[in-house]
Amino acid sequence: MSDNRTMASPLIIGNVTADPPLLLAPMAGVTDRDFRLIVRRIGGVGIVSMEFLSARGLVENDKRWSQLTHFAEEERPLAIQIYGSDAKTMADAAEIVQELGPDVCDINLGCPANKILRGCAGAALLGDPPLVADIVRQVRRRLTIPLTVKIRLGLDNQRVNHLEIGRICQEEGADAITLHPRTAKEKFTGRARWDHIGELVSALEIPVIGNGDVMKPDDAVRMFRETGCAGVMVARGATRNPWIFAQIAARLDGDAAREPSMAERHRLIREHFLTVIEREEETYAMYKLKTFLGVYSQGLPDSLGLRRSIQGLEGPADFIDAIDRYFARAAVATSRAAADAEDQSHAA
Ligand SMILES: Cc1cc2nc3c(=O)[nH]c(=O)nc-3n(C[C@H](O)[C@H](O)[C@H](O)COP(=O)(O)O)c2cc1C
Repeated sequence: MSDNRTMASPLIIGNVTADPPLLLAPMAGVTDRDFRLIVRRIGGVGIVSMEFLSARGLVENDKRWSQLTHFAEEERPLAIQIYGSDAKTMADAAEIVQELGPDVCDINLGCPANKILRGCAGAALLGDPPLVADIVRQVRRRLTIPLTVKIRLGLDNQRVNHLEIGRICQEEGADAITLHPRTAKEKFTGRARWDHIGELVSALEIPVIGNGDVMKPDDAVRMFRETGCAGVMVARGATRNPWIFAQIAARLDGDAAREPSMAERHRLIREHFLTVIEREEETYAMYKLKTFLGVYSQGLPDSLGLRRSIQGLEGPADFIDAIDRYFARAAVATSRAAADAEDQSHAA
């Protein structure tokens, strides 16, 4: 076993073990069942997270939210995240979540989207520590499964309070906490300040999961080493590269991280899109394909060209043609580049 693996031992959250201690972050619109299954089947991920669910939506049995809650046994361990601003509604929603049968329930105290902040939920709650205590306490009382809380540094640089919020969550019975070390005001700008993850690790007894700017496998190894965190959660790095967990796991075992070939990427996107097209009605399928083309293309050469090629496409099937044409062009470009390199090496 390599030193890295010893440093990153399995993550224990209540009665749930995440091995490797790597988590797919909740991402609204992205970590749906198809994407979670893709990541789970590639391997290397300890826990996968569902897109966040509105506590009020769940309690009011709003169809928009309840249709997101399906998951497959194969996805386990799985976390379901809820957001809201009223402690009683959050507790009622947590009970509904538990009946759905996930392994972990997570509370969102980190979303900086204006729509969520206006409802005084997500990261807005960081500005009201007594309310955080009330929410965590009431939710905890209603759950038997492990409870985690996902936070940011605070509302803004003048109101950084992750240590206070972390202690409150621990006191009120959270089993682990995830920190994305940016303030709500920063949204996704600047760099995630990992030193604050290390601070929280020192301040708490419950496991701290680090999150933010892990885009490459070695970033995760560095986050474990620099912060002493018990787990690493990845969001954008996983949408660009769903192989990232398997790659991090390899690096933790002291092995090289294998890069997926373009043919593997092509197969993954194609199969994902065909699943969406077969199952969903056209308008929703178009929305999903556009969302995923946007995220997948970020890991590809000439991503702008690919995104341009889908503008004005009429129906879902056209997406498959556009993807096939893109990868055929990429294969030609790769073999041309290889031939040029060989010519140059002969000439040298
Ligand atoms: C498209 C998108 C959707 C997100 N949705 C959620 C969400 O539903 N709940 C949540 O706690 N965080 C959400 N986040 C934040 C991520 O979980 C994560 O904290 C953030 O992206 C930082 O991690 P990264 O640098 O690995 O991307 C979302 C992020 C993105 C990019």
